[in-house]
Amino acid sequence: MDHKAIINISYIAASLLFIYGLKKLSSPATARKGNFISAIGMLIAVVVTLLSKKIISYEWIIVGIASGSLIGAFVARLVSMSQMPQMVALFNGFGGIASLLVGWAIYHFSPGSDAVTTVSIFLSVLIGGVTFTGSLIAWGKLSEKISGKPFLYRGQQAIKLFMFLLIIAAGIVFSLNPAGSYGVFLAVIGLSLIFGVLSVISIGGADMPVVISLLNSYSGLAACAAGFVIKNNVLIVSGALVGASGIILTNIMCKAMNRSLFNVLFSGFGASAGKKGDAEQGEVKPIGINDAYLILEAANSVVFVPGYGMAVAQAQHAVRELGEMLEDNGCDVQYAIHPVAGRMPGHMNVLLAEANVSYDQLVEPKDVNPLMETVDVAIVIGANDVVNPAARDDESSPIYGMPIIEVDRAKTVFILKRSMAAGFAGVANPLFFNENTRMLFGDAKVSVSGIVAEFKDK
Ligand code: TAP
Repeated sequence: MDHKAIINISYIAASLLFIYGLKKLSSPATARKGNFISAIGMLIAVVVTLLSKKIISYEWIIVGIASGSLIGAFVARLVSMSQMPQMVALFNGFGGIASLLVGWAIYHFSPGSDAVTTVSIFLSVLIGGVTFTGSLIAWGKLSEKISGKPFLYRGQQAIKLFMFLLIIAAGIVFSLNPAGSYGVFLAVIGLSLIFGVLSVISIGGADMPVVISLLNSYSGLAACAAGFVIKNNVLIVSGALVGASGIILTNIMCKAMNRSLFNVLFSGFGASAGKKGDAEQGEVKPIGINDAYLILEAANSVVFVPGYGMAVAQAQHAVRELGEMLEDNGCDVQYAIHPVAGRMPGHMNVLLAEANVSYDQLVEPKDVNPLMETVDVAIVIGANDVVNPAARDDESSPIYGMPIIEVDRAKTVFILKRSMAAGFAGVANPLFFNENTRMLFGDAKVSVSGIVAEFKDK
C-alpha cells in the first residue's frame, strides 16, 4: 500500500472514532468514554499528519506544540469551573485565527490556485476572522472586561448588512482574480475582523453562552474551509462535525429559553431589563438553618434544583452529602436539571457528576413538573431564572415562554441565595414572595453545610 493510501485509511479511522465518540458524549454515563475515543481519533489524525511528506519543518512544529501545551496546561489550572464559558470562547477564537492564518499563508505562497482553493481561502479567512474577534468580544463580556450590556446604535442592522455585502463583493473580486488581488484580500481580512466585533458587541451578556456555541460552530466551519485549502480530509470532516454539533447545541439552547436564534442575535436582549430583583412584591419569609433542618427531617420527598449560584459557591459536594443524609432518613431525593441552568450547557450535570451524584437521580423538567405537587420540599440552590414563574404566568416578562422547573407548585420551597438580587436575565422573581416559599439567605455552601451539620448533630 502506498503512503497516501495509508494516510487516507488512517484519516477515515480517525473520522469514525470522532463520530462514535460524539455519539457516546450524548449521555453522562458514556461521556468519559466518548471523550477518550475521540481523543484517540485525534491522536491518530495528528500522528498520521506528522508523517506526511509535505511537512517542511519539524522544528517549528515542536516549538508550537511545546509552547502551546505549556501555556494551555498553565492557563487551564488557573481557570475555575465558573470561568469555563469564557475559556471556551477564547478557544473558539484561537481556532478562528488559526484558520485565517492557514488561508493567508497558502494564498501568500501560491496566489494563483484553482477556483475551489481560492473560494476556500476566502471562506476560511472570512469565517476565521469573524470567529476570532467575535470570540474575543464574547470573552470580554463574560469575564466583565467590557460591559455585558448590548451596545446598540442607530442604523446598526443596516451598517452590518452593508459590511456583509461589501465583504461578499470583495470575495467575488478576489475569487475572480486571486493573483492580482492582494490588496482586496487584505481588505477582506480587515472587514471580517471588524464584522466579528460589530456582530457580537450588540448582543447582551446573558445571551453570550448561545453566541459562544454559535461561534464554536463557526470555528468548525472555518477549520472545514481550511481543510479544503490544504486538501486535508480529516480537517474537513472534523471541522464539519464541530460546525454541525455547534449549531445543534445552539438550537437546543434557544429552544430551552423559548427564543429564536434571530431574536438572540438581533434583539439586543438585556439592554433595558436592568436589575429589577429587589422590586417589592410583598413580604418575604426568611428561614434559619435550624428550622430548615426540622422541615427537611420530616420530609418524605425532596427535589434539589441547582443553578448558577451552586457553581459560584462550589456547593455541589455539600449538596450531595445532604442528599445522602436525607435518603438515609427515608426520604426520596431527586435533582432536577434545567437545560440552561448555570452558564454553559451541561454545567449542573458536570458539577453533580464531580460530586458523585448518581445519574439515576437526575431528572428533567418535563418529568419532574407533573409530579411537583407531591414534592414535600423543593430546595433551590442558587437558581433564579430557571424557576421564575413569571416565565409561565406573566406575558409582559422578558423571559415569558421559557420553560421552567415549577418549584412553586411543591408543598414548600427553600430558596438558597445571598440576597434579593435578580438572576442573569435581570428580571424580578415573584416566587420569592409566595406563601409556601422560605428564603434561606447566605452563601449556598455555607447554608447547605449548616443543615448537614444539624443532621450530624441530631
Ligand atoms: P441565575 O438566574 O443567573 O441566578 C443565579 C442566582 O444565584 C442569583 O440570583 C444569585 O443570587 C445566586 N447566587 C450567586 N452566587 C451565590 C452563592 N455563592 N450562593 C448562593 N446563591 C448564589 O441562574 P440560573 O437559574 O441557573 O439561570 C441561568 C441563566 O443563564 C438563565 O437566565 C439562562 O437563560 C442563562 N443562560 C444560560 C445558558 C446555559 S447554557 N446554561 C445559556 C444562555 C443563557 P444572589 O446574588 O442573591 O446570591
